[in-house]
Amino acid sequence: MSDAPEITPAAVDAAVEAALQAIAAAADSAALKEARAAHTAEGSALARLNAQMRDVEPARKAELGKLVGQARGRVTEALAAREEELGRAETAARLEAERVDVTAIAERGRIGARHPLTLLQEEIADIFVGMGWEIAEGPELEHEWFNFDALNFDQDHPARQMQDTFFVDPVDRHLVMRTHTSPVQVRSMLERELPIHVLCPGRVYRTDEYDATHLPVFSQFEGLVIDRGITMAHLKGTLDHAARVLFGPEAKTRFRANFFPFTEPSAELDLWHPTFKGGARWIEWGGCGMVNPNVLRAAGIDPEEYSGFAFGMGIERTLMFRSDVQDMRDMAEGDVRFSEQFGMVV
Ligand code: PHE
Repeated sequence: MSDAPEITPAAVDAAVEAALQAIAAAADSAALKEARAAHTAEGSALARLNAQMRDVEPARKAELGKLVGQARGRVTEALAAREEELGRAETAARLEAERVDVTAIAERGRIGARHPLTLLQEEIADIFVGMGWEIAEGPELEHEWFNFDALNFDQDHPARQMQDTFFVDPVDRHLVMRTHTSPVQVRSMLERELPIHVLCPGRVYRTDEYDATHLPVFSQFEGLVIDRGITMAHLKGTLDHAARVLFGPEAKTRFRANFFPFTEPSAELDLWHPTFKGGARWIEWGGCGMVNPNVLRAAGIDPEEYSGFAFGMGIERTLMFRSDVQDMRDMAEGDVRFSEQFGMVV
């Protein structure tokens, strides 16, 4: 081997020095693997010096063998030390990267949003709460007395027929699924101090067909005000205000004479809907009137001293013409594609 280096302490030191520098400079396992190949594998300076031992004259074999052997030992040791060091650092880095904080609060996936009907009900409630009214609630399974008798319904009023009202067995207990939110009027008058300003939103039940404009289970909001000197002008002003908040500044209401057992006078309530899809128009919105003195008396309030107004509207119906919903059944079926059109408000 003519190009073989001569084994001298200087040549051995140079090879060891170069190897140690490369080993120290290796920043990761891959770089260390390269350094190992470059400085110890076949063809490297050290390997060539070692191969050179074959040609060394016997008298110097021990001396030079020791020189080369120690050199290789130093490099092997340095490699092992660096390998362990890098291995530890890499394990630590991986553990850090995979660190899991088991005490952290889990990120919760969004699993739903509130229903458009709920949103509208809250929007309506806010209008009245904003005027200082309170929200009142009552049971959906109601005693016939609250649903009918106290509200001045005749014993033979058609609404009391089986074909309109869900009576609950046994019939002699006189329980019904409330057919409107008006029984909450009576409960409010019995339970609360005067004056009363309450809004009563809630679910009601009727034996209606399930079709595009009827649901057997739907919701209403009922308003009731009882105080001294309450007149129909207060009723009109209140409803016009609610109409404007819900339907814009040009909205207004009008009354058409009607009959309800629990109000006198009674009116059918129409809404002027300025942004209706097919063009501005009057739309039937609900019923209203001055609380019938018989109802006040049933609730222990002196009609000579107090008067009041009440109104009741369907929330599904309101959502229909406010948001141009064609089929009321979409509100009952729970298809998320319906709700998504209203924005997924949580
Ligand atoms: N309770 C009536 C209905 O469901 C609506 C109404 C409420 C009418 C209050 C007048 C006063 O049809």
